[in-house]
Amino acid sequence: MGDRLKGRNAVITGAGRGIGRALALAMAQEGANIVVCDLGVEVDGTRELVSPADDVVKECEVLGVRAVSNYGDVSNFNDAEAMVRACVDSFGSIDILCNIAGIDKPKMIWNMSEEEWDLVVDVHLKGTFNLTRHASPFMREQRYGRIINCVSEAFMGGPSHLNYSAAKGGVATFTYGAAKELGKYSVTCNAFVPRASTRMFAEEVLVSLKKRVEAGIMPQEQVDEIEVDLLPPEYFVNFMVYLASEQAQDINGQVFLTTPGAIGLWSQPHVEVQYRRDAKEHGPWRFEEIDELLPKKVLIDYVNTAPPQPPKEK
Ligand SMILES: NC(=O)c1ccc[n+]([C@@H]2O[C@H](COP(=O)([O-])OP(=O)(O)OC[C@H]3O[C@@H](n4cnc5c(N)ncnc54)[C@H](O)[C@@H]3O)[C@@H](O)[C@H]2O)c1
Repeated sequence: MGDRLKGRNAVITGAGRGIGRALALAMAQEGANIVVCDLGVEVDGTRELVSPADDVVKECEVLGVRAVSNYGDVSNFNDAEAMVRACVDSFGSIDILCNIAGIDKPKMIWNMSEEEWDLVVDVHLKGTFNLTRHASPFMREQRYGRIINCVSEAFMGGPSHLNYSAAKGGVATFTYGAAKELGKYSVTCNAFVPRASTRMFAEEVLVSLKKRVEAGIMPQEQVDEIEVDLLPPEYFVNFMVYLASEQAQDINGQVFLTTPGAIGLWSQPHVEVQYRRDAKEHGPWRFEEIDELLPKKVLIDYVNTAPPQPPKEK
């Protein structure tokens, strides 16, 4: 047992299994007290009979720290407040917040229902907002905090689950912005993009990646690269422990790739190519002008990644 997080108190959502559980145990191993938050749902969000949170609480206690369960739903604003309150009331403060809870409900956009969109966006994006909204006043007041959000490679526009991809993109943008708002109060906000052999990956993601390869919307090499990294999350959760430690005070507003075999950093959103002219002199952009300048000045070396294809023969 180490003491890198000794005296720190953490709320970890989705901590009943998978990445959240591994993270809870790694933080407990370093001395943090933990609120283990888990609603207990299947990968598609269907409610299970019991939450796995209590088992993880026992595992944390064996490591010599204090831990409490919370069975709330991160997408519910009031439940999120109760998770933060449980930490402050039980342990005296909230120093670390890890937004890990997640579900996946893949469908092509033309088949996705409004409910399927709302459910997934609510858990990932609204859930991250809800918890951060309730934790940040405490962190700001005490001038210390570590917020760690969970993104996915899907945030780059992964097809066949745009509810999930767009929500994760929202979490990345949320991370960039929250870091700017909270940094001056010594509260950092970073995100990580994992690859791990969890229930979600085995039951859902791998199956849908293989379907994407079959449908020609993802190259096999991309899946091969991901499969190499499919080991338990215990291989990389020390990276989040590092981000949660005092040593990481100056690391803020970053989205990291964290897999068993790799640590990387995403570039910040920026305008890559820009063509400027004096708008007052030239007036509004004209259709012909756009047609002329786009290939020469802006879409340089551009390749359409999803060109039209002839319909498949039935
Ligand atoms: N496993 C991977 O390779 C991978 C890749 C990219 C992103 N992620 C992300 O990592 C996070 C954890 O995924 P995992 O692979 O450990 O999945 P998992 O299914 O093993 O665990 C997710 C946990 O979150 C809980 N949960 C779901 N909705 C909740 C809600 N509304 N309120 C409270 N708890 C809720 C579930 O009950 C479950 O215990 C997710 O955000 C996921 O999108 C995972």
